Amino acid sequence: MRVRIEPSGHEFETSPGETILEAALREGFHLPYSCRNGACGTCKGRLLSGDVTLQDYEPRALTQADRQAGRLLFCRAVPQTPVVIEAREIGVAKDIIIKTLPARVARLERLAPDVMRLLLKLPQNERLQYLAGQYIDILLKDGRRRGFSLANAPEADELLELHIRHVPGGLFSGHVFESMQERALLRFEGPLGTFFLREDNAARPVILLAGGTGFAPMKALLEHAFLTHSERSFHLYWGARGVPDLYLPALPQQWAREHAGFRYTPVLSQPGAQDQWQGRVGYVHAAVLADYPDLTGHDVYACGPPQMIEAARDAFYKAGLPEDRLYYDAFEYARDPV
Ligand SMILES: Cc1cc2nc3c(=O)[nH]c(=O)nc-3n(C[C@H](O)[C@H](O)[C@H](O)COP(=O)(O)OP(=O)(O)OC[C@H]3O[C@@H](n4cnc5c(N)ncnc54)[C@H](O)[C@@H]3O)c2cc1C
Ligand code: FES
Repeated sequence: MRVRIEPSGHEFETSPGETILEAALREGFHLPYSCRNGACGTCKGRLLSGDVTLQDYEPRALTQADRQAGRLLFCRAVPQTPVVIEAREIGVAKDIIIKTLPARVARLERLAPDVMRLLLKLPQNERLQYLAGQYIDILLKDGRRRGFSLANAPEADELLELHIRHVPGGLFSGHVFESMQERALLRFEGPLGTFFLREDNAARPVILLAGGTGFAPMKALLEHAFLTHSERSFHLYWGARGVPDLYLPALPQQWAREHAGFRYTPVLSQPGAQDQWQGRVGYVHAAVLADYPDLTGHDVYACGPPQMIEAARDAFYKAGLPEDRLYYDAFEYARDPV
């Protein structure tokens, strides 16, 4: 079916059963997206004309009020007639090619009791071209896939770095912690997602909000910004439960010493007595608001558990952050094929 994007006027065809997002990416049109399974709401946009069927999605990603306003999730919408949609396109991602590649586990490194650093080596002569902040999908057997943010700047692409939290009962993270060996072979697809630094508004200060292993893409964004001598100012808030969960504690402190435009505030939600914590306590998004009650002049990049993203999104919009200046990747659980 024919799809036209407004306001750009770009047009492409979907194959039978294909979603608007799948077809758009295949044709090289970059609509905003993250989870690709109807959970995060990043791909939300308006249907201006035509009919679609919507595959399964999480009601919090697309509310009743959204439906009434003619909004839908492009990652779940399959056109039944020619359609016209309203969506923002992202120009900078257009030269990025999504590949499926094999990779070998070069190193497994325990960073915290429940965080593993996985370093992946690509076949010789292969490089992954990506934008700092993007993620890859590890392809498991039976069509299952799990997303992980790339934690290193694209300039340092000798090995790909992932930070993986052990989810109790989790299929893939359990395998990483319990049985994966160095030299194991994996397959992945990537780079994916539209969580990367927008350069068109370089004057505005940036707030980075990381929850747990949501630190991974922030590390990539910041290392890239430092390597390219970005003039922007960055304030990183990293939320975790206790001190051991801030799993690379020296790194942000080193950035703060070396880069005048960078500030760092760690925030713990449940510090234990043994942590002897003197720093900020509570929800990490609340710490941002305590320091920046008015967000009208900022760009915010957030990454981590869905509950953190949801709480931050609502509170930040109330504090004046324009909707198109919040960029996020929510670490949604995958919906496995049945
Ligand atoms: C764009 C993106 C980037 C990501 N990046 C990272 C990253 O950098 N680092 C990282 O650690 N993780 C990241 N994730 C999360 C990651 O993809 C996996 O979801 C996570 O590792 C768990 O996978 P698993 O196979 O171990 O667990 P699964 O087998 O998927 O199951 C996890 C467990 O949680 C339960 N569960 C399932 N759904 C829910 C739910 N909605 N709420 C609560 N419990 C549920 C299951 O029953 C099971 O017990 C990212 C996710 C996305 C979408
Ligand atoms: S809901 Fe469509 S990309 Fe997440």
